[in-house]
Amino acid sequence: MSILRNDFLWGGAVAAHQLEGGWQEGGKGVSVADVMTKGAHGQPRQITDGVQPGYHYPNHHAIDFYHRYKEDVALFAELGINCFRTSIAWSRIFPKGDELEPNEEGLKFYDDLFAECQKNGIELAITLSHFEMPYHLVTEYGGWRNRKTIEFFLRFARVCFNRYKGIVKYWMTFNEINNQANYQEDFAPFTNSGLKYEPGEDREAIMYQAAHYELVASAKAVALCHQIDPDAKIGCMIAMVPIYPYSCSPDDMMAATTAMHRRYWFTDVHCKGHYPNYMNRYFERSKIDLDITKEDLMDLREGTVDYIGFSYYMSFVVNGKDKAPVYDYDEAQDLVKNPYVPASDWGWQIDPTGLRYSLNWFADRYDLPLFIVENGFGAVDEVDEEGKIHDQYRIDYLKAHLAAMKDAVNYDGVDVIGYTPWGFIDLVSAGTGEMKKRYGMIYVDLDDYLQGSGNRSKKDSFSWYQKVIESNGEQL
Ligand code: BG6
Repeated sequence: MSILRNDFLWGGAVAAHQLEGGWQEGGKGVSVADVMTKGAHGQPRQITDGVQPGYHYPNHHAIDFYHRYKEDVALFAELGINCFRTSIAWSRIFPKGDELEPNEEGLKFYDDLFAECQKNGIELAITLSHFEMPYHLVTEYGGWRNRKTIEFFLRFARVCFNRYKGIVKYWMTFNEINNQANYQEDFAPFTNSGLKYEPGEDREAIMYQAAHYELVASAKAVALCHQIDPDAKIGCMIAMVPIYPYSCSPDDMMAATTAMHRRYWFTDVHCKGHYPNYMNRYFERSKIDLDITKEDLMDLREGTVDYIGFSYYMSFVVNGKDKAPVYDYDEAQDLVKNPYVPASDWGWQIDPTGLRYSLNWFADRYDLPLFIVENGFGAVDEVDEEGKIHDQYRIDYLKAHLAAMKDAVNYDGVDVIGYTPWGFIDLVSAGTGEMKKRYGMIYVDLDDYLQGSGNRSKKDSFSWYQKVIESNGEQL
């Protein structure tokens, strides 16, 4: 008998802007992803003022899934997945974001894509906002720093819930909403919330305000989804990077505790329906005065999620030396290398046990079903003379993480409903905009400048994952 549930969701995950391309097709508007250039490890992507001549914007064409989705879905079916996680590009449905009526042509694309998946017995797990919002909402309204964005988002959510009632079974509101806790960087707050900071602005306070509006929007979307399609399940999506203490020194332990507060209070609001005391106290003592109304607090209470979707790639370590008594966490400064785990070429620490730890951490706190909606290994793949890709390193990574997941189920009794590895078809990296940081089991013949045939082929990990799925995870 399998350790995992019989209805376990075995899938693959992607996001609209990272694979679709067709950035100007079917009436689509410019999105925040369309104004980001290619970067590299240690070289951040540039966010330009609108689309400018002379820059390379990898998301404009990506892997051209917009035109090739039928061929790709056929490969997904051959792989054997029963669940496909993608997102609906907000800028396809509301090209500018503030229109009253949706763009039919944009919806038509998802009608067709979802029908193709259903035809192949593939369930849908859909993220409403995955690092992609109409750019017009940024230039005209300041993105999520503006309360009005709640209304625009709900209009978008309502259209999606009505249209895909009975078709989409699993929804998620905001991808990795907590990544913007890293407000010092330009990238995460821009992709998460469309935040562009002016010099001298209090970035932290603006980020908390934007996050609050998003959490209210999320809660209202959850309530709306329950009302429109009571059979659907709607969850949050958290970037889970557990933060360990550097040592058993009590200072390190406290630093890790407060660091976890700073990154995971979002999950408390999503799951418990209210702000945790540690955040209320933090806002008071930091003199961060937020626009939070009584009605907002009620909306948060009434829109708690059905499950926790989360990504897991790595763990962090924090050093608490000289941080007493407040132990405030500064992600840009406080992290140290973990001496016990290796790292990828992009510096991501590889820690399968961290996945088991994370599953336990969520289960202990929230008692909700858990859905691992991203996990994977970004690596450079070499194509040999026969055109084959022997990605044993990727198989090793995934195998070790699946084994850790099974241990969490088997020994710790955690309720895991599914696993959708990230970028199971090669796509544009969100962090760097590169193609060469590949996660896929399906290879896409395109380089960083999207030159190449675009042809799809199967890596070794393809047949490995096929067997994992066939055996419901018994054979890793
Ligand atoms: C998650 C995102 O942060 O990690 C994805 O939800 C992203 O959009 C993935 O692609 C991997 O990160 P990267 O930077 O390697 O693409």
